[in-house]
Order: sequence, then C-alpha cells, then structure tokens
Amino acid sequence: MPEVARGLEGVVVAPTSISKVDGEKGALIYQGIDIHDLAKHSTFEETVYLLWNGVLPTQGQLATFSKELAADRQVPAPVLEIVARIAAKDDAMATLRTAVSALSAFDPEAEDMSVEASHRKARRLTASMGTIVAAIGRARAGLPFVPPSTERSYAGNFLYMFTGTNPDPVVERTFDQALVLHADHGFNASTFAARVTTSTQADMHSAVVSAIGTLKGPLHGGANIRVMQMLLQIDASGSTADTWVRTQIAAKERIMGFGHRVYKVEDPRAAHLRRACQAVGEAQGDSKWFHMSQAIERVVREEKGLAPNVDFYSASTYYMMGIPLELYTALFAMSRVSGWTAHIMEQLLDNRLIRPRSDYVGKRGVPYVLREDR
Ligand code: CMC
Repeated sequence: MPEVARGLEGVVVAPTSISKVDGEKGALIYQGIDIHDLAKHSTFEETVYLLWNGVLPTQGQLATFSKELAADRQVPAPVLEIVARIAAKDDAMATLRTAVSALSAFDPEAEDMSVEASHRKARRLTASMGTIVAAIGRARAGLPFVPPSTERSYAGNFLYMFTGTNPDPVVERTFDQALVLHADHGFNASTFAARVTTSTQADMHSAVVSAIGTLKGPLHGGANIRVMQMLLQIDASGSTADTWVRTQIAAKERIMGFGHRVYKVEDPRAAHLRRACQAVGEAQGDSKWFHMSQAIERVVREEKGLAPNVDFYSASTYYMMGIPLELYTALFAMSRVSGWTAHIMEQLLDNRLIRPRSDYVGKRGVPYVLREDR
C-alpha cells in the first residue's frame, strides 16, 4: 500500500481543461484566461459561457446566452413552496440543498445524460439557484417572494429579488465581480464531490446536491459566514482586532478566511475582494470593516505567515451590501454551480468511476462470537 496522502493533499486525480490553480505563483485561470482579466473585464454571464464552452462568447453569442439564462430563472411553484416552508427553520445551505434536490422532479431531462440535455440542465440549475437563494433570503426575513426579472443580469436580478428594489449599479458590479471570482477553482472539495457523484453515472441534480453539501462546511465555503461572525465579535468585544486575533492565535484557534490547501502565496481572488471591500466602505462613508480586516490580515501574516483567501474580504463586502450572514455561503454556491456543472459535463465526456482505496488500519482475525445480549 503506497503512503497515504492525508486529505489527498498534492494528489492529482484527473485532467481538466476548466480551471487551474497555481499555488506557487498565486495564479488562477479559467479555460486558459487569467482571473485578473476576467475580474476586470467580464460579467458573470460571460464567465459562465467561457466555463461551459471553453471560449469567450462573441457579443451576439453573449446576448443570446444571457437571454436564455434569464429565461430559465422561473422556479417551479412547489419548490418555492418548500423554500417558504423550511427557510426560516433550517440553515440557508440546507434549504438550498433540499430545494435543488426537489428541482429534479420538475426537470423533464433530469435523467438525460446527453451533452445537449446536460448543457440545458446546467443552465436551468444555474439560473434557478439565483432565484432560490433570493427566495431563501426573503423567506428567512419573513418577506414575500419577488418573482425574477428577465431584464436584469444574474447579479442584478438576485439583488432585485432579494431587496425588492433596483440595485445600486456599483453594488451590482461589485457583486457581479464576486460571482466571477467564485465561479470555479480546480478540484476543490465541492467540485470533487460533484465529479465523484457524476462518475457513478448519477444525474446532474444529484451531483450538484453533493457539491452543495460539501461547500457548506466551515473549512470550505462556510468560512465566509465565520469571517463575518469574527468581525462582529471583535467589534462587540471592545478589544482591538490586533489583540483579539493574537489571543485567538495563542489559543491555537484557526482564523477563518486565511490559509489554503493549494495557495502558498496570496489567493489572487483576495486582491479583488480587498479592493471591493475598500471601495464599498468608502462609498458608504464607513471603512470600519475594511480597516478591521486589514488589521487582522497584518497579524495573521506576521504570526502565522498565512494570507487571506477568497472568503476573507468577501464577507465584509457582502455585509456592507446589506446581505445577511447566513446567506453568504449560498451566494458562493449560486456562482460555483457554474463551475460544478462545467466539471460534471467534462466528467461525463470521458468518464471513469472514481473509486479510491483505503488503508485499512483496523483489527483483523477477530473471532466471531455470538453475544447473548444482542
Ligand atoms: N488559522 C490559523 N492557523 C491555520 C489556518 C488558519 N486559518 N489555516 C491553517 N493553519 C495552520 C494549522 O493550524 C496547521 O498548523 P500546525 O501545523 O501548527 O498544526 C497548519 O496551518 C496546516 O493546516 P492544515 O489544516 O493541515 O492545512 P490545510 O491545507 O488542510 O488547510 C484550510 C487548508 C483552508 C482548511 C485551512 O487553511 C483553514 O482551516 N482555513 C480556515 C478556513 C477557511 O478560510 N476556509 C476557506 C478555504 S478557501 C475557499 C474555499 O475553499 O471555500
């Protein structure tokens, strides 16, 4: 038995053309294109087209694709009813997981694994998830559902559905950029989960449900909620960010939003989110969260040599945009579904069952004894 790589660290499990994380250089590419270019110049719709088709769209292709994506925003009424019934009682990611699972009952192509049907399902799933996350946010706040608008961008429609008002253009662009930055990231845990499920020839909805469940954890997408909880805790403590973080580090606690399995230098997505956090704070005339985040970053770099990841500055940016904490991981999911589905389609094109082995360290040769008390 070869040596076990705990947590599959450093193990390459399959080829992919969708995205590449270069942990040494701190670089990320989607289909060969640098994330910095996409973050500066692309919209989420354009990024999704790129992930699914391998090339950037022409203006005409983008217009058609955006229209198709917008037309798929309607979610079947029974699924919205499930959301309305459980959203206030359950975690937002748990509600999202249940709602996406229920979507398959209303998808006429749920079990169709053809390339064409897979593209259409990827579109429906991505479009629907924006609607469902907004519906979860409204239901949790005790507010009525706002039907989706087909006239807006994916980012703009979410903000419109969530707030019930026209979004501020700067906020919409900031959110759109955050969606671009979260869309894909190599073989991260949730993408891997989606690919494992797909490798058994299970349907796309099952694979996305696996991915949502995996993203939920605090060591993955759930970190963004914990980051904002930390900032609020520091604010309420009366202590400085510097002192608070040093105390946590001395107590061997993890500082959420820092560190990464692959990046040995700063996560390239963090630079854009740091700027977004600063810009939103300045636009609102209150840079408290930005300054606090910077102070935390200074201490964690100095004490642990760790840089912020995608979840660190996104948290306070969303907070300043008026989005409640419990939705942050669901925002991640409504973007990452585009990457998950790209990987699901890639896995389907050249599938082989993903079935690793384990290193059995349990007992052997235990005699079978009938126990009287069973
Ligand atoms: N704060 C304090 N110490 C840390 C942190 C952190 N955020 N991250 C890693 N370390 C330490 C860890 O305690 C360990 O130290 P020691 O060797 O002294 O015990 C060492 O670094 C290695 O940790 P590890 O858990 O073996 O490393 P990993 O490759 O499994 O860690 C990670 C990756 C993301 C799970 C980890 O950095 C972490 O828990 N970060 C906080 C949670 C977080 O921000 N997650 C989001 C990840 S990026 C976006 C996403 O995927 O959603």
